[in-house]
Amino acid sequence: MSESALSPGLRDILEVARGTPGPRVFLTGAGISAESGIPTFRGAEGFWRVGSKNYQPEELATYRAFTRMPAEIWAWYLYRRSMCKNAAPNPAHLALAELEEELGDGFLLITQNVDGLHLTAGNSLDRTYQIHGNISFTRCARECSPTLRPLPEQLGTWEKEQPMDPDSEKRLTCPDCGGWLRPHVLWFDECYDEKWYRFESSMAAAQSCGILVVVGTSGATNLPMQVASLVASHGKPFVVVDPSPSPFSAMADGNPLGSFAQGTAGELVPAIARSLASR
Ligand code: APR
Repeated sequence: MSESALSPGLRDILEVARGTPGPRVFLTGAGISAESGIPTFRGAEGFWRVGSKNYQPEELATYRAFTRMPAEIWAWYLYRRSMCKNAAPNPAHLALAELEEELGDGFLLITQNVDGLHLTAGNSLDRTYQIHGNISFTRCARECSPTLRPLPEQLGTWEKEQPMDPDSEKRLTCPDCGGWLRPHVLWFDECYDEKWYRFESSMAAAQSCGILVVVGTSGATNLPMQVASLVASHGKPFVVVDPSPSPFSAMADGNPLGSFAQGTAGELVPAIARSLASR
């Protein structure tokens, strides 16, 4: 889609944003990776709906479940990670990487996605706040050291209900203390923090931004809602890209400088990013 095909209301808001000081901040959710073939969480085929044969998915993504059945939880994460590893960035990811290249410190990205596709597309780790972690990394489950370790390549590709085997289990052992490594992801019974999940940095981005563009997230998590509420309450330019209405789109509709751009990330994000590329 060309910039001129964006709605006139949206083009007006992007025009205001070009003259508003502060970084252009994008906040992304599973919807931006849907066109890369990774299911969202709450869509019809979503991870949280299909889950596992034996457990409700929201029971699996907890520290509590991990302490009770680490091998089973790892098998489920290795399956999800195989899906992410086979996916490639789509035009929306690539547009955000180009925008960062253009704007440097004038750009920030807050992502809930653990798939790492923004980094694969070329966004820098410094300006990408992975607020739910990254599924391709591990850390000691006992926190014996603050080291993030990439998942060993030898673990290969995992099928949906593939059970854990002793060789893989050995590869998921902390080399420092001999306990389990855990996936570097934020679980439902854990809290946001700065050290692992860039909580304060995300709130600071919301405070200082010149525009917030929210892409493909349903509003079920806490920090994204806080970020969006802060930006909306300051009356800053605020754009939401999603094929479906959400609490974010309602916030945009209630904001004089808000716009709900109804459509997919692949259709709309490249044109929005091009329009924000000029300083
Ligand atoms: N382009 C843009 N948005 C899309 C697309 C698309 N092609 N396809 C679907 N969407 C939208 C959906 O309409 C929905 O609003 O993406 C959103 C996906 O919502 P969820 O599945 O709830 O995913 P998300 O909001 O990222 O979930 C947040 O919940 O369980 C946790 O940790 C998990 O990070 C995740 C968090």
